[in-house]
Amino acid sequence: MTPQDSVEEIHPARAIAGAISIPGDKSISHRYAMLTSLADGESHILNYSTGADCQSTLSCMEAMGISHSFADRDGRRELIVNGHGVRGLEPPLRYLDAGNSGSTIRMLSGILAAQHFNCEIGGDESLSKRPMKRVLTPLEKMGAQIRATNEQYPPLHIRGSELHGIDYPLPMASAQVKSCVLLAGFYARGETVVREPVKTRDHTEIALRELGADITVDGHTIRIRGGRELEAKKLVVPGDLSSAAFFLVAALIASEADLIIANVGLNPTRTALLDFLVSAGAAIKILDIQQVNGELIGTLQVRTSRTRGGVIEGALSASLIDEIPVLCILGALSTDGLIVRDAAELRVKETDRIATVADNLHRMGIQVTAKHDGLEIPGRQHFHAAEIDSFGDHRIAMAFAVAALAADGPSLIRNSRAASVSYPEFYATLREVVQ
Ligand code: S3P
Repeated sequence: MTPQDSVEEIHPARAIAGAISIPGDKSISHRYAMLTSLADGESHILNYSTGADCQSTLSCMEAMGISHSFADRDGRRELIVNGHGVRGLEPPLRYLDAGNSGSTIRMLSGILAAQHFNCEIGGDESLSKRPMKRVLTPLEKMGAQIRATNEQYPPLHIRGSELHGIDYPLPMASAQVKSCVLLAGFYARGETVVREPVKTRDHTEIALRELGADITVDGHTIRIRGGRELEAKKLVVPGDLSSAAFFLVAALIASEADLIIANVGLNPTRTALLDFLVSAGAAIKILDIQQVNGELIGTLQVRTSRTRGGVIEGALSASLIDEIPVLCILGALSTDGLIVRDAAELRVKETDRIATVADNLHRMGIQVTAKHDGLEIPGRQHFHAAEIDSFGDHRIAMAFAVAALAADGPSLIRNSRAASVSYPEFYATLREVVQ
């Protein structure tokens, strides 16, 4: 069976209950895999993401001579990476395949541009349509030599070069672009400065500092100097709040719910989701919180709530970009509906998420207007059972599995296995909590 043939049947849920733990954060896992590969010696990473995207990063590093293995540590999965030092990557034996992963190709490009070898990196059909100019522009200013299809799309042919620092005001809110420039800056001569228009997820800055890079952050300005070594470490990946989002919404919309979600990353650059939900009336509590490797991890409790909906616009659209598909499900059931603006980035994700959300909402009988940069969804609507298509997009598959819980009969999610890109355990965990 190909992933396109995979189907999940989701039945309406009356109640959601139990205690679940969320697998490792995708964003942090990518960064730990890349940086521990550049550290000297063996790093141990607990709770590394099980998603296909993070496996793509590992296999790119493996193609450049970095071996890894998995071990069982007290019932938890531990990744062991044998780093070869900052200058230890070897010319790749093969084409670097980033699969479906925009984070892999964009962030890794910053490292690859500074190596002493040439390489080619690309990915699947969806990745081949995703814009890369945003990383090519700053890298070229740093002295990189990169060829792309139509000067924009993967695969990228990268000729390793000596890079120099730049002062770069990011033209857009993107943690992937910021990270790409910082990783190139880690190799560059002199200082690299990145200025963000709004603060995006700062996992790269935290991980670089944790492993010993010379990096400072002052508000929206980040400075990094090249020429430092990285230390091999024991690291723990917090659970992915963007994956927890599906369970938060599933619980909020159920007729009865009391769900504990343990081991969730609560880095403040990611928690706009919780602020948005709580201000819309969601009963979500943080039960405990601690810091590990510079990242916050905690336990959440969520109960059924009547939510008001709201408006997502401006900087908030960037902060909630990965959660907007599942927030649209909540929006249709809320009292006031949901308006999403300033989110044209949704159009260049794994699918055009404005189109794929609107298409599937229509299939479920939901009224929605797609705009060039967002969506308008009136509240107090009713989901009808339907045949959904993930269009190969993990977050669309999971968002509509949640919608199906609120439908009036069983729904089918076609190409359901797309969820494995970030959350292979998703359907099994959903079955555990649905009553
Ligand atoms: C990510 C940044 C965001 C996000 C993506 C992961 C990261 O992308 O949508 O899922 O790990 O840095 P952009 O940088 O394109 O906004």
